Amino acid sequence: MINQIKKNIKDFLDNKYEGINLIVEEPKDKKMGDLSVPVFPIVKTLKRPLNDVVNEVKELLQNNFKVIKEISNVGGFINLKLNKEDLAFNIIKEVLDKDSHYGESKMGENKLTALDYSSPNIAKSFSIGHLRSTIIGNSLKLINQKCGYKTYAINYLGDWGTQFGKMIVAYNLWADKEKVKEDPINELTKLYVKFHEEAKNKPELEDEAREAFRKCELKDPEYLKLWEYIKDESLKESEQIYKLLKVDFDSYKGEAFYNDKMDPVVDELMAKKLAYLDDGALIVNLGDDMPPALIKRKDGGSLYMTRDLAALLYRKKVLNFDKILYVVGNEQKLHFEQLKKIIELMGYDFKDEVYHVGFGLYLVNGKKMSTRQGGVTKLYDVLEKAINLALEQINLKNPNLANKEDVATKVGVAAVLFNDLKNHRELNIEFDLNSCVKFEGQTGPYLQYSSVRIASILKNQELDLNNLDETVYDNDDYFDIIKQLSNFTNTIEKACLDNAPSYIAKYLLNLAQSFNKLYSLYKLNVSDDKVRNANFALIKAIRIVINEGLRLLGIDYLNEM
Ligand code: ARG
Repeated sequence: MINQIKKNIKDFLDNKYEGINLIVEEPKDKKMGDLSVPVFPIVKTLKRPLNDVVNEVKELLQNNFKVIKEISNVGGFINLKLNKEDLAFNIIKEVLDKDSHYGESKMGENKLTALDYSSPNIAKSFSIGHLRSTIIGNSLKLINQKCGYKTYAINYLGDWGTQFGKMIVAYNLWADKEKVKEDPINELTKLYVKFHEEAKNKPELEDEAREAFRKCELKDPEYLKLWEYIKDESLKESEQIYKLLKVDFDSYKGEAFYNDKMDPVVDELMAKKLAYLDDGALIVNLGDDMPPALIKRKDGGSLYMTRDLAALLYRKKVLNFDKILYVVGNEQKLHFEQLKKIIELMGYDFKDEVYHVGFGLYLVNGKKMSTRQGGVTKLYDVLEKAINLALEQINLKNPNLANKEDVATKVGVAAVLFNDLKNHRELNIEFDLNSCVKFEGQTGPYLQYSSVRIASILKNQELDLNNLDETVYDNDDYFDIIKQLSNFTNTIEKACLDNAPSYIAKYLLNLAQSFNKLYSLYKLNVSDDKVRNANFALIKAIRIVINEGLRLLGIDYLNEM
């Protein structure tokens, strides 16, 4: 709102005083007014007396902006007081009317965002990186939808590649088939770990693995059957997590899907004279800024890059996206730079529609937390632990709550999700389960709790918007919150442009803090009907925005906790 008014005033002045770039700012000292316009640039450029200019601008603004209540000046600074009651009420009314639709934007109208996220590797455990990709990707999908984009969510399963050959070799050499049937993922993970241990002393195992994968690529029926089995079992593990986080996808086309789509791409690279043979392997040179990309191995085996290249071209053709987001850890930065470079060299014009949305690591006491090899912290267990901690708190604070288990699940999930999304994604995150489940501090449960607090104030209360004292809002503690509410759409759009859900997370923390401060400073449930209605209208609007903001992060709000 303020931003819009600022912009309107600036546009108006820019139009009147062409070529002079005036600024409209919010003065630090609130006593000066809500907005301030320094007119020195006019004085300087047009070489006119200050007083003249001040009077002229004052008059122009006064006559053209109804929203200005008072206008004054200190030297060359023109200070404006706005008609805050009106403004405030309009914002609140807009939030209440639009309800969960508040904050929507038309930025992405008629456009499609494709997202490649989660993308776990079958035959390996779902890793922390995959969890981050799932959480960030899902939030970006919701944010894009809120901005009017159509979305297409792809789970690009890592279901192809030499790691799969390793799995086959290990399975054939050491698997106790019965045990694998009983507890597939754990047993398969053990086999995979064993492969790496054994291969340290027997490097020939690596060759066998490559050979096994080659056979898959050549569609050996027995190997393909085993592939199918391992893939299905791995997906079951991932799906447990998707169900808990309420994440879904439009497509599960993984790397294997592109098995028969790579040859044409390789041919195209050859025809365009981009790929050349180097010691039996096929290589694309990418100039001085980047190491060359390996497209085909000496033994003819395909590579991660080749599959990604085939997938990107296929997706562009079939989906015709306006942008595609690859939500993948920072460690693959170079990979995606190379991918973009290759399509550019091939003569395609859409490299700027391709975004690598990178992210950092989870740290525990400053060290990388890992699910791989040895100290397997199974992610599902981590989530369950969060849920149990949430339940403990509920048992302490509200032991008679109905549906305790359901609430605890939502709180536990919120804790893990918010702990991730509140940080800019590129940063590494310190992971401390106990502190992220707390109902106070910068946590997901704190936001849920703030929303519940409002719900309990409003429970069984009437709200009459026609009988409301707007002057209540002409007070900075109130008005600042209303300004925040009016910035919701803006914040979402920025989050969408920068692929940064953290903007929304931070926004929500500020909003909840403002509400809690208001609640500690003022009695909201007062006997004066008009004042009470004004208070209730505001906090109801706050709750709508908190709940909707949480939804955009993939987090459920609660009515009680
Ligand atoms: N499966 C890959 C991994 O775990 C991530 C795939 C990301 N998406 C892509 N199109 N490369 O490292």
